[in-house]
Amino acid sequence: MKTAIVTGAARGIGLATTKLFLAEGWRVAMIDRDAPALMDAAQGLDHARPIICDVSVPEQVNAMTAEVAKAFGQVDALVNNAGVADFRPLQDTDFAIWREVMATNLDGVFLTSQAVIPHLKETRGAIVNIASISGLRASTLRVAYGTSKAAVIHLTRQQAAELGEWGVRANCVAPGPVDTKLALAVHSPEIRAAYHDAIPLNRYGTEHEIAQTIVFLCLDKASYVTGQVIAADGGFDAVGVGLPALRSR
Ligand SMILES: NC(=O)c1ccc[n+]([C@@H]2O[C@H](COP(=O)([O-])OP(=O)(O)OC[C@H]3O[C@@H](n4cnc5c(N)ncnc54)[C@H](O)[C@@H]3O)[C@@H](O)[C@H]2O)c1
Repeated sequence: MKTAIVTGAARGIGLATTKLFLAEGWRVAMIDRDAPALMDAAQGLDHARPIICDVSVPEQVNAMTAEVAKAFGQVDALVNNAGVADFRPLQDTDFAIWREVMATNLDGVFLTSQAVIPHLKETRGAIVNIASISGLRASTLRVAYGTSKAAVIHLTRQQAAELGEWGVRANCVAPGPVDTKLALAVHSPEIRAAYHDAIPLNRYGTEHEIAQTIVFLCLDKASYVTGQVIAADGGFDAVGVGLPALRSR
């Protein structure tokens, strides 16, 4: 039975991805640092194993990887999804906030990949890193978040370049806005309305839609795809001068 490690699996996109892997017949190691939420989320999910771990802490990541290897014997996919968002102006982003965002969003992807790669080499497995449209297009208020996600996009390419000779693929999904706890915390009603205007499909995405893109990249269906960034974003990244006033309706 194939095995995936999904970080940030207690809710949102990570939980939807877990459920989709399970529906595909995979086993899933559900990783999160929010213990009560993780235990709650894993309740009743067959073939899912919750493991409490903060992906920004090397010792915890190493212990988690050893536990997965012992419990499941193999790892076929790693989804680096755990992330935190913080929106504020450049000048108000003090070093502690910058570090907090980088610790999870960038260090976490580096550390978890580093620990799991030896297992992926054995299965010719796949990595999918979750970035964001904020890593593709700059905006106000996202100096730390956007920069961390842009770095994740490049880290993905580094991984693809180096791991190809072991048959390990590395790709990146850059979601547009999705109604999760993370987005609810930082998207005001004005921001929501502006997103609707700026997105060709005119709406937020769903957790399931993002999960489908993630899981596709882990499957053999994507066996010749590596080093790519797929924006699952309703077309947001495609439009430069996508002014609402230029629409025909
Ligand atoms: N929701 C959106 O609009 C959106 C858009 C673009 C990208 N993303 C990205 O998608 C990913 C998932 O986001 P979401 O909206 O589902 O968020 P969410 O806040 O609903 O879920 C994130 C999960 O990650 C966990 N987590 C955070 N830091 C962690 C750490 N250091 N170690 C272990 N677990 C940790 C949290 O406890 C939480 O359960 C994130 O990387 C986010 O940046 C989200």
